Amino acid sequence: MTPGARHLYVHLPFCAHRCGYCDFVTAVGRHSQHASYVDALLSELALERGVLASELDTVFLGGGTPTFTEPRALQRLLASLPPSSEVTVEANPETVTQELARMLRAQGVNRISLGVQSFRPHLLETLDRIVQPDTVRRAFFHLRDAGFDNISFDLIYGIPGQAPHDLDADLADALELGPEHMSCYELEAKPGTRFTHAHGEELERQADSMESYFELVVERLTGSGYRWYETANFCRVSERDLRSRHNLAYWLGRDYLGIGVGAVSTIGGRRWRNTPRLAGYLKSLERGTVPEREIESLSTDVLRRERVMLGLRLDEPLVLGDLARVVDGRAVSRLELLGLVQSDTVRQTLTLTRRGRFLGGGVTADLLS
Ligand SMILES: C[S@@+](CC[C@H](N)C(=O)[O-])C[C@H]1O[C@@H](n2cnc3c(N)ncnc32)[C@H](O)[C@@H]1O
Ligand code: SF4
Repeated sequence: MTPGARHLYVHLPFCAHRCGYCDFVTAVGRHSQHASYVDALLSELALERGVLASELDTVFLGGGTPTFTEPRALQRLLASLPPSSEVTVEANPETVTQELARMLRAQGVNRISLGVQSFRPHLLETLDRIVQPDTVRRAFFHLRDAGFDNISFDLIYGIPGQAPHDLDADLADALELGPEHMSCYELEAKPGTRFTHAHGEELERQADSMESYFELVVERLTGSGYRWYETANFCRVSERDLRSRHNLAYWLGRDYLGIGVGAVSTIGGRRWRNTPRLAGYLKSLERGTVPEREIESLSTDVLRRERVMLGLRLDEPLVLGDLARVVDGRAVSRLELLGLVQSDTVRQTLTLTRRGRFLGGGVTADLLS
């Protein structure tokens, strides 16, 4: 394998409006800056080209709303990125027209992550989404018509006002369309935000139901032919491996370069985060210098712990090797007796059982010495 990172993340921060629950680095509107932002991305890429391998495995355009970016600027960006076998673009349903879907396909995009969140109108409204369920369906069919055969849905559960039957109906609506992949996230509401203030009590009530929602999601999707391959991620069981290769790279602790405002990179034991300030980001790259960054040196111990925490989110056994140094052997025996982990001493692997996966982070925290 050639040296260098084989995974590239590109952050496109622009959105039509800001959803109350969102904590990502975003900027509303700013049409006049889209083209110069793409220039900045390409300058940053040129400055960092040396840390990338000559051939990439995955490219992921995330946001923000990448598909809200002015189409000519987005097309120019896609045409200028290095080729890669998996190219994913995050899309908001209301932005997906026939022309946009065709343009993405023509520019080599072969995977779409569609921000569905819910199919229930009252829940979409609570989330400040500007779509109706039919917009989601229309977007999905435009993508299919343009030739996309690898589409992922993002769904959220634990939304204020959601009842178990709403979640059940959301899963049924998603399953009816049959995307290749689904990511199902529990709603995270940051304390002190407008959203938390508006829905405080209801969020507390939802928090009590999260475990049963999670179980419902896993049961419905695994019962409908999806593989629960990562805590929050499911892919259709098929001859093709439909797991997200880009996200797998994060979970397996591979190096990746992130470009754009607020983007994170982890390469060779160093992690850096670009400034989240758009003006500062643009200014540095106009001058031809790298943007302001927070840089962190990751010790071997920290990297190993991350590998265990992320690796145990997957359904495949985690090969311990050197990682055994950060795992508490007594905790393994104890959790094994409780039926939460399974260890294979011959192969030197560790896997969470189904029950262990439901408990997730708590079990992993216990395992780390
Ligand atoms: C980076 S966001 C942006 C995607 C796109 N702009 C959209 O809104 O659909 C990617 C996904 O993260 C999830 N997400 C964002 N904020 C979240 C939150 N507070 N709690 C749980 N999931 C969240 C949503 O499912 C969303 O589709
Ligand atoms: S559209 Fe997506 S990225 Fe933009 S504010 Fe809403 S959730 Fe956040």
